[in-house]
Amino acid sequence: MMIEISAADRVFILTGAGISAESGIPTFRGAGGIWRTYRVEEVASPHAWQRDPAMVWEFYSMRRRAAGAAKPNPGHFALAALESKLGERLFLCTQNVDNLHEQAGSRRAVHMHGELFKSRCDTCRRPPFDDSRTYEPRAEIPRCECGGQIRPHICWFGEVPYDLDRIFQALSDCTVFLAVGTSGVVEPAASFVARARGRARTYYVGPEEPANASAFTKSFLGKSGGLLPNLFDCK
Ligand code: APR
Repeated sequence: MMIEISAADRVFILTGAGISAESGIPTFRGAGGIWRTYRVEEVASPHAWQRDPAMVWEFYSMRRRAAGAAKPNPGHFALAALESKLGERLFLCTQNVDNLHEQAGSRRAVHMHGELFKSRCDTCRRPPFDDSRTYEPRAEIPRCECGGQIRPHICWFGEVPYDLDRIFQALSDCTVFLAVGTSGVVEPAASFVARARGRARTYYVGPEEPANASAFTKSFLGKSGGLLPNLFDCK
């Protein structure tokens, strides 16, 4: 079975860590998941940043090294190919902070949880900037001209995700909703399918049913790298 996409359909795709798993980037909650090794409150929260910014940079340096060594897999390429077919009728929203969608050719991925290879000042409103620097343990935290500290451009637990206005607009416009490789436990992304399901056909792709499985019209169980390349039937 495939997902039929007519010329009138508007498609919303939400990706999670699972789409990058076959590229060698660990997920968060599965076996070998990041939160099995690190405690969120120690490395990915405003409180962690206040208490030990060097520890936070050590964590994101490890993630920059892992993501920097990764290459996009067939799942990323399939979504980039779909974007070139559908143009602005495809809205790609990712919870991932790696740049594998971009490396595969996606031009308009919306990173609601931020981007690993960007940093920003924790004090002034200077816009986020490209930054792939990594730091040794206990490194000196770089400073902005304003005196603030440079932090990862990542949405931490307790912070508001980015671009929610245009994400909610795209959700209300879509007629097809597809979630790929996300466990469906972290809000607000976990509720996107519920927002779409009144009007849209809703699908899930991943090796196991997500926590919000009941909200999906159909689940395609399997790895996204194997399923996505042959999943879309564009009319
Ligand atoms: N293909 C597709 N899905 C896969 C694959 C694969 N090859 N391998 C694993 N998965 C699925 C798992 O079954 C799981 O449902 O990917 C999902 C990963 O779930 P999580 O690790 O919880 O990742 P995610 O849902 O993206 O987490 C959401 O939580 O920690 C925060 O900010 C972080 O963006 C992240 C958010």
